[in-house]
Amino acid sequence: MAAWVEGRVAGKRHWTQALVSLQVAAPEVTFAAGQFGRLALPAPPGHNEPMIGRPYSFVNPPDAQPHEFYFIVVPGGPLTPRLAALAVGDPVWLAPRANGFFCVGEVPPADVLWCLATGTGLGPFLSMLRTPEPWSRFQRVVLVHAVRRAEELTYRDEIAGIGRAQPGAFAYVPMVSREAQPGALAGRIPAAIADGRLEAAVGIALSAENAHAMLCGNPAMVDDTQQVLAARGMRRHRRKEPGHVTVETYW
Ligand SMILES: Cc1cc2nc3c(=O)[nH]c(=O)nc-3n(C[C@H](O)[C@H](O)[C@H](O)COP(=O)(O)OP(=O)(O)OC[C@H]3O[C@@H](n4cnc5c(N)ncnc54)[C@H](O)[C@@H]3O)c2cc1C
Ligand SMILES: NC(=O)c1ccc[n+]([C@@H]2O[C@H](COP(=O)([O-])OP(=O)(O)OC[C@H]3O[C@@H](n4cnc5c(N)ncnc54)[C@H](OP(=O)(O)O)[C@@H]3O)[C@@H](O)[C@H]2O)c1
Repeated sequence: MAAWVEGRVAGKRHWTQALVSLQVAAPEVTFAAGQFGRLALPAPPGHNEPMIGRPYSFVNPPDAQPHEFYFIVVPGGPLTPRLAALAVGDPVWLAPRANGFFCVGEVPPADVLWCLATGTGLGPFLSMLRTPEPWSRFQRVVLVHAVRRAEELTYRDEIAGIGRAQPGAFAYVPMVSREAQPGALAGRIPAAIADGRLEAAVGIALSAENAHAMLCGNPAMVDDTQQVLAARGMRRHRRKEPGHVTVETYW
C-alpha cells in the first residue's frame, strides 16, 4: 500500500486567524467516526523524511464527502502554517488508513454520553454525533466545547443541526475561559464539574452510575478532568477492564 494518497483541497474556512477547517477530496480514504487520519505535505529540502505528516481527526461523518479537518495554526509549526496557506485545488496528502479507538463503538453501555472538548478537540464529536450510533446507544448526549475566547466557539450551525435532528436527546454547553460571554459557562471543564456548574447547566448528573465521558483536546484538560472524575469513582475505560472515561490527547 502506498504511504500517502494524493487528495485535493475542496474548501477552506478561516473561523479566526488561527482556526481553520480544510475540506479534502480523497474518496478512497475511509474511516469510522471518531478516528483520525494523517495530513501531509512534501518536506522542505534537507529534511530527513520526504513528507511532513501529522494526525488530524475527521470532522465529517463517514458517509459524507469531502473529508473535513479542523486545526489550529501553531505559530512556527512545521505543518499547520503550510496547511492554512493551501488554496482550493491544491494537492494535500493523506495516509491511506485511518486510526484510533476514540469511537462510540468502543464505549460501554451508559445512559448519558458526555463529550468534553477543548479547542479543536471538538472535531471528532462532530463526526460521531452526525452518525446514528450515539442516538441508539445513549438516552442523552451532552457536548461541551471549552475555548479561550467566544470567537473560537465554532461549528455553531452544525451543532444546532445536531440539536434539531435529536430533539430532547442533545445538550450543548459552550464554555469560554478568557472573557465573559453571555450564554456560556466561564472557566475550565474540570472546575465546572467539581463545583457542579456543568451538571446544573444541563440538569443531568455526571456519575459512575449513569455516565460515560469522552475527553478530547488539550492533554492538561484530559489529565485534570480525569482526576475530578476519578474522585466520583469514574475510571479510565479499557477493553479488558470496562470503565467510564475514554480519552484522546492532541499533543
Ligand atoms: C490523535 C491525534 C489527533 C489530532 N487531531 C488534531 C485535530 O483534529 N486538529 C488539530 O488542530 N490538531 C490535531 N492534532 C495535533 C496535530 O497532529 C499537530 O500536532 C498540530 O497540528 C501541530 O502541528 P505542527 O506541525 O504545525 O506543529 P508542532 O511543532 O507539531 O506543534 C506542536 C505543539 O503545538 C501545540 N498544539 C498542537 N496541536 C494543538 C491543538 N490542536 N490545539 C492547540 N495547541 C496545539 C502544542 O503545544 C504542541 O506541543 C492531533 C494529534 C493527535 C495525536
Ligand atoms: N496563531 C494564533 O494567533 C494563535 C491564537 C491562539 C492560539 N494559538 C496557539 O494555539 C495553542 C492554544 O490553542 P487553543 O486555545 O485551542 O487551546 P488551549 O490552550 O488548549 O485552550 C482551550 C481551552 O482549554 C482550556 N484549558 C487549558 N488547560 C486546561 C486544563 N489543564 N484543564 C482544563 N482546561 C484547560 C483553556 O483554558 P484557559 O484559558 O484557562 O487556559 C481554554 O478554555 C497555543 O499553543 C498557541 O500556540 C495561536
